[in-house]
Amino acid sequence: SPQQMILSIPDLKDAGSAKLTEVIKNFYNDGSTNQITVHENTTAYDKYRLRARVLRDVSKVNPSTAVFGQNIDFPLCVSPAGLQAMAHEDGELATSRACAKRNIHMGVSSFANYSVEDIVEAAKLGTATAPIAHVMQLYTMKDRKMQERIIRRAEKAGCRAIFLTADSPVLGVRYNEYRNDFRAPENVKLPMLERSTMEVRSKTHDSNFTGFSEDAHSWTHEIPYLRAITRMEIWIKGVVTAEDVVLAREFGCDGVIVSNHGGRQLDQTPATIDVLQECVEAAAGKIRVHIDGGIRSGADIFKALALGAECCWVGRPAIWGLAYDGEAGVTKGLDILYEEFRRCMQLTGCNSVSDISKASLGVVRSDGP
Ligand code: FNR
Repeated sequence: SPQQMILSIPDLKDAGSAKLTEVIKNFYNDGSTNQITVHENTTAYDKYRLRARVLRDVSKVNPSTAVFGQNIDFPLCVSPAGLQAMAHEDGELATSRACAKRNIHMGVSSFANYSVEDIVEAAKLGTATAPIAHVMQLYTMKDRKMQERIIRRAEKAGCRAIFLTADSPVLGVRYNEYRNDFRAPENVKLPMLERSTMEVRSKTHDSNFTGFSEDAHSWTHEIPYLRAITRMEIWIKGVVTAEDVVLAREFGCDGVIVSNHGGRQLDQTPATIDVLQECVEAAAGKIRVHIDGGIRSGADIFKALALGAECCWVGRPAIWGLAYDGEAGVTKGLDILYEEFRRCMQLTGCNSVSDISKASLGVVRSDGP
């Protein structure tokens, strides 16, 4: 029936969310505290307008780009988000297969329900090597030995980079998790943390998983250590200011993900699209700048590129796809974003991603660029 047609990411959100229990839906969809940042991450994109160009030959449009030295179909990858088996039993394996089919890279959360080895393997689709790149997300952890084991496993599995999530020395305030007494189900595992959810629960539930995090973390404590023990690229995930981009440069990081953790950490941080420009300026072409948070359409991807991002990442859209229909649902979401982005390029007269610039954007509100 027409009501079931999935034409957009909001459609996928509705259809996917409808398949989840209230508790799990809230865990995935909600942000922290007053929900200001999670909401604004998406609505902020509406401030920017597209300057359509006409009578340009766009028959040979090419949305592909290179990320981690490897071509992907379009400038989008899937953010590392934990506990995907609560959305669909195939969890991160299904996400990995869908990313491989769409030829885009994927982040693996430390809270993944499948191992990095199995997730990378799932992307091989009949060939010997994974056609896409995976990156391993790490939290700053009290347990250095475990952190190092995760790094070694990621390296061995063939991961290209570490995403050090730097925005979580403590967890954000998540009312839904407190009210619902949210606990990951017993039947899902946390193989990167070498624990069952039962063990995590009994050890750290009172502090909401923060038993793993290192609140004494710092640039000097983390970055030289990581540099010394691995040759993978090191990216900082969770940066929202020019100051922190400058520090990432000074500490020799390879890139930053402009991210507010999908509005799940500090509420009332700005929408990531609104701080992208200051971060790009601070990077000054010396380190790479990617962005995530609130991206729900191909036009959003286009706007982020116009404001200087090299690539975008999405978290929840993949989860909604998983909830809706497993691997096929994720593929559906990624295909929607691909087609929308490609069409947006054509209607703005851009034949390659390098044609996308600030000249493609206008603004409708004074608090825009
Ligand atoms: C996340 N995110 C996240 N980030 C991270 O570094 N490690 C993690 O384990 C998780 N886990 C996680 C779970 C869930 C359910 C969500 C929704 C998000 C944040 C994620 O990587 C990304 O920054 C955001 O999801 C991007 O925002 P959107 O696209 O979800 O709006």
